[in-house]
Amino acid sequence: MTQDELKLASARAAVDYIAPHLETGSIIGIGTGSTANFFIDHLSGIKGKFDGAVASSEASAERLKSHGIPVYELNCVDSIQFYVDGTDEVNPTLELIKGGGAALTREKIVAACADLFICIADESKWVETLGAFPLPVEVIPMARALVARELVKLGGDPVYRQGVITDNGNAILDVYNLKIHQPIDLEETINNITGVVTNGIFARRPADLLLLSTGTGVKNIT
Ligand code: 5RP
Repeated sequence: MTQDELKLASARAAVDYIAPHLETGSIIGIGTGSTANFFIDHLSGIKGKFDGAVASSEASAERLKSHGIPVYELNCVDSIQFYVDGTDEVNPTLELIKGGGAALTREKIVAACADLFICIADESKWVETLGAFPLPVEVIPMARALVARELVKLGGDPVYRQGVITDNGNAILDVYNLKIHQPIDLEETINNITGVVTNGIFARRPADLLLLSTGTGVKNIT
């Protein structure tokens, strides 16, 4: 199977997983990226079964609207039943590195509101230890050099993602060569650097369920 076929399979599995639990009033949180796009496309097939969605990016909001799925502001909903999103890396305790698509801050906010966070991924995203994928850090633009110097002190090699402005108007630093043996500690340490909006380690709030697509089927991992 190609990587896209694997992504599609995990996205389909997520729709199959949530469908029996949806009811009038249900709101679904939606991630960002190519795997999330497969999920949005497949979700449109059951759009009568839930009220609408909260999107983690302008791109996902546009895609949802193109399918006729109502998109709500997060501040206007009481609860999010499921948050479904892809990832750049996932480890055995379902801690993640996210932000390859620069949507990490809104993704983390929507995930924080969700009753159940379902991660959908192809098997290439599975790692024993996080950190081979460069860690995205969203920064206030005027603090970019300050934050970069602090990240070097932590042992990382930050690289400015040229030409990218997040939906929040900020910049992204991709940090190479970090050894992420204590994901919660590093997530908190980086978030405490002045000028950091958030970083792409999702460990304080990891996924609750991983639907990992492999050549022999989709595995449910909790
Ligand atoms: C966007 C993300 C994506 O979930 C992550 O980059 C994975 O993307 P894809 O599904 O295209 O492989 O965190 O900010």
